[in-house]
Formats: sequence, structure tokens, C-alpha cells
Amino acid sequence: MGHVTSAAAIAADAALREGFPTAEAAAAHGQVELRYAYGADLLPHAGPEGAGTPGMWRYEPLLPLPPGPVAYPLAVGGTPLIAPPALRRALGLPGLWLKDETRGPSGSNKDRATALVLELALRAGAGTVTCASTGNVAASLAIGAAAAGLRAVVFVPAAVAAGKLVPMLAAGAQVVKVRAGYEAAFGLSRQAAAAFGWVDRNTGANPATVEAKKTVAFEIWEQLGRRMPDAVVAPVGDGVTLYALGKGFRELAACGAPGRLPRIVGVQAEGAQPVVRAWRAGGDVRTAAGQSLADGIAVGAPVSGGAALHEIRGSGGACVAVADAALLDAIALLARRAGVLAEPAGAAALAGAARAKAEGLLGDGETVVALVTGTGLKTPQYLPAPGRAVEVQGRLDEVEAALAG
Ligand SMILES: Cc1ncc(COP(=O)(O)O)c(C=O)c1O
Repeated sequence: MGHVTSAAAIAADAALREGFPTAEAAAAHGQVELRYAYGADLLPHAGPEGAGTPGMWRYEPLLPLPPGPVAYPLAVGGTPLIAPPALRRALGLPGLWLKDETRGPSGSNKDRATALVLELALRAGAGTVTCASTGNVAASLAIGAAAAGLRAVVFVPAAVAAGKLVPMLAAGAQVVKVRAGYEAAFGLSRQAAAAFGWVDRNTGANPATVEAKKTVAFEIWEQLGRRMPDAVVAPVGDGVTLYALGKGFRELAACGAPGRLPRIVGVQAEGAQPVVRAWRAGGDVRTAAGQSLADGIAVGAPVSGGAALHEIRGSGGACVAVADAALLDAIALLARRAGVLAEPAGAAALAGAARAKAEGLLGDGETVVALVTGTGLKTPQYLPAPGRAVEVQGRLDEVEAALAG
């Protein structure tokens, strides 16, 4: 029912103020944080009466969405929470779960934010939507806009991965490649939105992106049997995914969900770790280099870095950096021990979970959820070295011989 209008409109309730950002503090972290009239009535219903609304829209009372039918046509949210036995054994984490966010219409967790922004755009009668992106946001917006019958103009670094550019073009988006890179693309997209009256779907800049992404926390909680995990591990590029995750769990608690809030563990690439550095040094996030084969987290000036850091600190969590080689190992582990195909940024949480376990930041018996945020099908070049395919004419004896060999 959308209790919220703006950050200023509704004060945080007392529970939220204790130990977590007040409206003023949230604003100081560069983020407009939407707040609701929290209470048990906003929690999703357990049992069959709660099963009616599909996917992400199930959490409409905690979304900034006026009542009414959802026009956005693609199915979003409701992604699986996987218990991977072989992976659990391999990592020595018996309580590990994978939240498989590769299952959206474009194969990444960006599809949640796209869906809410486009639903609001459809209700407002908008015509054109825009974003900047290292690849996945633009692919998601292009596909979502195609489904919704809207025009998409997306801004990407000129070096965008081919596997991410193809879906944007296939879906009919107008793609602007920016030679000056992602940060410049971000500024350009925001300027264009303001100048031409387009809907701005830029991550973090549009508060709806946070509101949509927080629904992953609601799903994890429900899928664990309405229980809080001990820790949740998430990749950090611009920081919105992690910030939203933390906000989602805080909102569950503010609505009366029992249990301790999970520790939030952020994961960055060694070549792009401004949030890790700030976490270690104890200060604010400063712009740093942004180099990694994981393009989604190769962000040197994260839009919501301060907000993400605040979630990590406030939850008693941690922030770890992983080498590109560890990302490739994590991709292979996910493919071979869990049957989940991930891109480098999508495998970062798993790499980070292994790292955090080695550093003693995760306990053996803890319930730990790692977010797998993007499919490996867009980046096949990073999937583990393939085994050898055998070729036969068509007889069974050939198959037997080939497999034995
Ligand atoms: C697959 C994937 N994982 C993680 C991230 C990082 O998310 P955020 O920018 O919200 O921190 C991205 C961003 O593009 C991504 O594409």
C-alpha cells in the first residue's frame, strides 16, 4: 500500500533510530532513505494467504508503490535459495546458502530495480528511461523497457563486455558508449535525464532502486523459515546491492521480525577496493582505482559507498577484497559444485565467503547466505576451462570406447 512518500515525510521509528541511521545520518551518507510506518502488518503473510502475489510484488506494503494492479509484464524476484551440499563440503561451510539472483529476465539482480522503476514509469505515463551501467544495469533496463513498451537510452563504458552489449542492442535500446568510462557515463545519463525529462533509473540516485533491491532480504528471511541468517555476503560495486540488503533486514526487524540482524559482509576486487580500504582505515570512502575483470564491481567512486559502509559497520560485519584469480576460482566452484553459472562480479560473494571463513570472520556452524548476482552466460570467457567433448558417428560402442578413453 506504499506508506511512504519521501525520506523527510515519515520519521524513522524508535527501533530504527536505536543503533541504526536516523534520517539525518542516512542523509549524511549521501542517500535519500525512504521510510515506512513499520509494523507487523507490513510483513508478508506466512502460509497460503500470502502466496497470491508473485515474486517481488509480494512485498508491496514495503515498496513505494501506490495500490493498484502491476502493469510491468516480466516476472521478477522469487529467486531460489539453494542449499549446495558439494559446495558446502568444499568450503567447510555447512550452513552456506546461495541466493541465486541470476534467475531474473536479464540474468542479474538488477532486474528487481528495473522492474520497480519501470512500474512507476508506466504508472506515471513516462516515455523514455535512462541509466548508466558497467553492463548489467543497461542490459536489464533494455530488456525491461522492451517488455514495457518504453524507450531506453543507456550509457555504458566504451569497453563494455560484448556479452552484455548484445542483449542491450537485441532488445532495441539506444546505446551510448562513453570513452571516458563508467563514472563519466553516470554523469552523462543523469544530465540527459534532467535535460530531456527522462526517467532516471541510475543506481542509488533513484531511491526506488534501493527499495526494489532490498526485497532480496525479505525473500531470504522467508525462505529460511522466517529466520534471520547469521551473515549475508554481497558484492560491492556502487554499493547499492549491499546497502539495500542491509536496509531490508533492518526493515524486517523494525516490523517486528525476531532475531539478531545478520552481519553484512561486503566483497570487493583487490583492484577496486575503496570500501574495503575505508572499512580497514576507519574513515570515509575515498575514490580509488577501479580495475578488475569483474566489471560490475570495478568501481573506483561508488555512488552508495558510504551507505554500504554504514551497513557493514552497523551490522558488525566486515569487508574483504579478493584477487581476480579468486573470482575465477569461485566461478569454477559455483559451476562444478553447485550448478550455478556466474560472472566474475556474480561470484564475488562466494569468493569473499571463502576469504572471510579463512580469516575467521564466519563461524563453521553459522547460517551464511552468499548472493550470486549475475549469470555467467553473458561472460562465457570466464567459465572454467571446458572438458573435452567427444565426437562419435552414432553407435553405442563408440560412446563406450570414447568415454572409457
Ligand atoms: C553481477 C553484479 N554483481 C554485483 C554488482 C555490484 O552491485 P552494486 O553496484 O549495487 O554494488 C554489479 C553491478 O553492476 C553486477 O553487475
